[in-house]
Amino acid sequence: MILITGGAGFIGSNFVLDWLANPAAEGIINLDKLTYAGNLANLESVKDDPRHVFIHGDIGDKELVGKLLKQYQPRAIINFAAESHVDRSIHGPAEFIDTNVLGTFNLLECAREYWGALAEAEKESFRFHHVSTDEVYGSLSATDPAFTESNPYEPNSPYSASKAASDHLVRAWFHTYHFPVVTTNCSNNYGPYHFPEKLIPLVILNALNSKPLPIYGDGQQIRDWLYVGDHCSAIREVLAKGKLGETYNIGGWNEKANIEVVKTICSILDELQPRSDGKSYAEQITFVKDRPGHDRRYAIDASKVERELGWRPAQTFETGIRKTVQWYLDNPDWIKGVVSGSYRDWLHKQYN
Ligand code: NAD
Ligand code: DAU
Repeated sequence: MILITGGAGFIGSNFVLDWLANPAAEGIINLDKLTYAGNLANLESVKDDPRHVFIHGDIGDKELVGKLLKQYQPRAIINFAAESHVDRSIHGPAEFIDTNVLGTFNLLECAREYWGALAEAEKESFRFHHVSTDEVYGSLSATDPAFTESNPYEPNSPYSASKAASDHLVRAWFHTYHFPVVTTNCSNNYGPYHFPEKLIPLVILNALNSKPLPIYGDGQQIRDWLYVGDHCSAIREVLAKGKLGETYNIGGWNEKANIEVVKTICSILDELQPRSDGKSYAEQITFVKDRPGHDRRYAIDASKVERELGWRPAQTFETGIRKTVQWYLDNPDWIKGVVSGSYRDWLHKQYN
């Protein structure tokens, strides 16, 4: 078995679904605290699959994590669990420190203890895969080269600082204890089951609900977008073949300005579900106050993972964003469930 954390969130649940789509795949223990971002509806299609065991709990709970490791004897741990939203980290950073820093620390310590007691062969093959972000590298100017694995860490938000701290812990556990880790630093993901606090799902839902499409500042900030299924395939590849102690940047070579992303979504919606008044959804675009400390540009140089592990993204931005918009149009029940939750309170706090 493998143990994953945060597997009811956006990327984690996509990972579970993709993993179990392979009939030969091992089972998954899925430990998730079910914060506002964790949603068991994402895992509805595997609820009767005996290979998937869901455990409601916190990565910071030493007793629980220790017990799970003892009971299920996983050959690997993939740590997706995190507080992941930059804007929320600006409003309230404490939970980011608790989960991203202290939670990762606890997971590392429990896993190190478990690993230390394994027989030699299992010890040798064990992996701790830490899922991280490109935001740890800070912000690029328009002409800077894309982030490579040797860029210095320059996190600018409470979220990215907490992820950077967790990356440092993971690195130190390898160097000090020879604990077998790999880390991936990925760019912005999008796709099915994306919680609508993040730009792409927020814009799709607001467009369909005749609401403003909020663009922070001048909308010229650049993100490097990767379809979530491609992130999941990269993680599988790194877990299987990555070198211990190494970090791998994962990205889709898809740098886009936010305004361009929003206009693309509008034009796909104009085609797939035109507004009743015949006007474009782009009419709903509204420029709002900028995010404090807003990073201007992220870009990932993914040549290391491509060269050394042979990984390539399957989707371009054009194919991935179309699939994503279509998924939201096809899944109104999932949307209803999400929108009726604490998401409403968050929208009020952020945009009023
Ligand atoms: P998400 O916010 O959608 O999901 C996070 C999940 O972790 C939720 O299910 C939540 O319930 C769970 N969780 C939070 N605190 C927990 C705790 N203390 N114990 C157990 N579970 C807990 O996040 P996501 O977008 O799926 O991101 C997953 C990981 O990938 C994060 O580590 C994030 O930093 C990283 N990442 C995300 C992106 C992106 O674009 N979304 C890009 C690169 C890296
Ligand atoms: O780069 C990887 C990171 O991408 C992950 O580590 C984070 O977990 C993930 O949330 C994401 O962070 P961003 O801050 O880039 O994503 P978000 O969707 O919040 O914002 C994308 C861009 O769009 C960003 O420049 C801010 C802008 N934006 C966002 C929202 C929610 C707007 O202009 N309007 C909005 O309403």
